[in-house]
Amino acid sequence: MDEKKKLHLLDLVAQYQTIKPEVDEAISQVVSTGGFILGKTVEEFEKSVAGFVGVKYGIGVNSGTDALYLALKAAGVKEGDEVITTPFTFIATAEVICWIPAKPVFVDICPDTLNIDPVKLEKAITPRTKAIIPVHLYGQAADMNQIMEIAKKHKLAVIEDCAQSLGAKYHGQQTGSIGHIAGLSFFPSKNLGAYGDGGMVLTNDEEMMKMVKILRQHGQDKKYHHLKLGVNSRLDALQAAVLSVKLKHLEKWNQVRQEKAGYYNQRFAGIGDIKIPQVRPDNEAIYHQYTLRTAKRDAMVEFLGQNGVPTAVHYPIPLHMQPAFEFLGHKNGSFPVAEEAASQVFSLPIYPEITREQQDQVVDAIAKFYK
Ligand SMILES: Cc1ncc(COP(=O)(O)O)c(C=O)c1O
Repeated sequence: MDEKKKLHLLDLVAQYQTIKPEVDEAISQVVSTGGFILGKTVEEFEKSVAGFVGVKYGIGVNSGTDALYLALKAAGVKEGDEVITTPFTFIATAEVICWIPAKPVFVDICPDTLNIDPVKLEKAITPRTKAIIPVHLYGQAADMNQIMEIAKKHKLAVIEDCAQSLGAKYHGQQTGSIGHIAGLSFFPSKNLGAYGDGGMVLTNDEEMMKMVKILRQHGQDKKYHHLKLGVNSRLDALQAAVLSVKLKHLEKWNQVRQEKAGYYNQRFAGIGDIKIPQVRPDNEAIYHQYTLRTAKRDAMVEFLGQNGVPTAVHYPIPLHMQPAFEFLGHKNGSFPVAEEAASQVFSLPIYPEITREQQDQVVDAIAKFYK
């Protein structure tokens, strides 16, 4: 296959080419002023993201993982507490619960959205439950109305994992503005991706904001005055500068992704046993991943690889079956909906710059698989 036509799961170089002068200028600004840690560049970016999502505060941190950890701390989750989440997510969501150290309690997912099932969630609440972390997987919001109602009834904190959902809407409201506190990831492959690691905590709660700000800088409220034992988790000014440029394009990029996803949806209708992403009518998904399902997933992924179509599996092993969570004592069959999804899902190339021809190449390869 000639290089020009080579498909990528994600093409960050193509994106850079579209914004090169703006990005280069932003980087040069930071380097020439020498302000690398926090300061004006980070503060302005924090305000812009908070404004975009519609919350009062954004606090820039080192990664999406740290954002979730610091959000749990700010929400008052303590050793021995239980935190309910989904087993069908990236490990960071549940890993940070163990860092507290609290206990992750998994609840199975809805078969259509693959997000946490609110009905099963309520049944998993015990006197030790302190918080819920819903994940808006692939860029589609979880059932936030039901989750917030349950949380209110049982006095639980809701920490939205928005690592994959910046810009996604639920009943017209941005994810990240519905729960009590939220975590964003700026990992390079995210819809708003840095040139390295980065993340942000979002909240309307002043006390939580103050706590995250203190904890991200070794627990200090001012230089060398340490109120708490914290961590070093600041968003780099260089990353904030790059991200500020990209944020201006995000709405358009998300819209283009939706159009590209719409084209895939239309082309996949009636091909083999392919199931296209199921988006609820009250959701506006931003397709961080475009993820299909087939009962023949492993053969499909292999075939596509041989035919020059890169794919990824998000995620092949649900968290309760990972060796790292063996201590929780789950087994195969504990969360059947997540297990079935893990055996069937595969994600296709999607990014704003992907061309119609490249999408056709992907669809044609999948159609060829069934012939
Ligand atoms: C659902 C989810 N949660 C948390 C994270 C962690 O974010 P990061 O890689 O920025 O630490 C990611 C992404 O990697 C994610 O996809």
